[in-house]
Amino acid sequence: MLVLGIDTSCDDTSASVVRDGRYALSNVVHSQIELHHPYGGVVPELASRAHLRNITPVVNEALLRAGVTLEDLDGIAVTIGPGLIGSLLVGLCYAKAISYVKNIPFVGINHLEGHILSIFLEEKVPDFPFIALTVSGGHTCLYAIYDFGKYKLLGKTLDDAAGEAFDKVAKVLGLGYPGGMEIEKSAKQGNPEKIKFPRSYLSKDSLDFSFSGIKTAIALFFKKWQKDSSLQKEICISDISASFQEAVVDVLVEKIRRAIKKTKIRNVVVAGGVACNTRLRHKLLKKFKGIDVYFPSPEFCTDNGAMIAVAGYHRLKKGERADLYTDARSRYPISDIK
Ligand code: KG4
Ligand code: ZN
Repeated sequence: MLVLGIDTSCDDTSASVVRDGRYALSNVVHSQIELHHPYGGVVPELASRAHLRNITPVVNEALLRAGVTLEDLDGIAVTIGPGLIGSLLVGLCYAKAISYVKNIPFVGINHLEGHILSIFLEEKVPDFPFIALTVSGGHTCLYAIYDFGKYKLLGKTLDDAAGEAFDKVAKVLGLGYPGGMEIEKSAKQGNPEKIKFPRSYLSKDSLDFSFSGIKTAIALFFKKWQKDSSLQKEICISDISASFQEAVVDVLVEKIRRAIKKTKIRNVVVAGGVACNTRLRHKLLKKFKGIDVYFPSPEFCTDNGAMIAVAGYHRLKKGERADLYTDARSRYPISDIK
């Protein structure tokens, strides 16, 4: 079964053709990093206009690289939320148009479900049940995954997402946008134990997250550092990056430990843009004995159409169909998936 997956939820226009919910025949991503770079973050109006310009060439390229035409497709899967509403609408309207004209069934997909299922694009896949941590620019959530379509939220961020904290801290430190990769690059030259930034673990058993405190702690520390030349001799920017990264990674690792303890589930999947972080990967693989930890490859961690096609495949297979009245939604908790 061949499914075309489309994601335009934020600032990447992406399309992919996936066979049987497992094999990505193509995965085309048009990044808008350069467009938003001068603003240090995504400008929604610019993002939706860029999606409009890019959606046709991106979908055509995805079909071309997969060696298929629209006529070969068995279904279309498109992200309908959560995300920027103007951006989502571009992908959704495009999918509806192809579906209508070519008479191909389509389904609307929750972007977070896509991130969770992105691991099925890899050769080695986890057995159910597994714990999934989705860590991206917009979301930090822990789930127990019992089957395709059977998800239970265990915890979520009460304020900023982990990726958002990386992006905001990178901006404060003048490292550029997008922040995650820049912080990681800078941190490689630094000492993660140089500054003990606060780790917000919340109450003893809590599986929720909070990253606004550390963001403020860095901003205050950086202000002090800028005015103090002797502190600058002792501590460099890379030390601040490494110490920040370490604090975020420690919190993510601890929350996974708690989730394993609470659910007794022994398989863990970490997905979303922050799952690219090599320090997080290293610490998670080292920390847990007898627990299998799975990471999608970096191309499937950041936003992509392939993960949407995987989620779509399982829904189409069960007979699910969307209609032309399907709407996009900026908020779309996983508990709202039918
Ligand atoms: O999943 P994604 O591409 O988009 C969203 O759905 O948000 O995630 C993007 C986020 C950004 O906040 C980016 O800074 C972060 O993932 N990110 C990283 C790394 N690469 C991307 N964070 C930490 N370390 C990285 N290597
Ligand atoms: Zn995402």
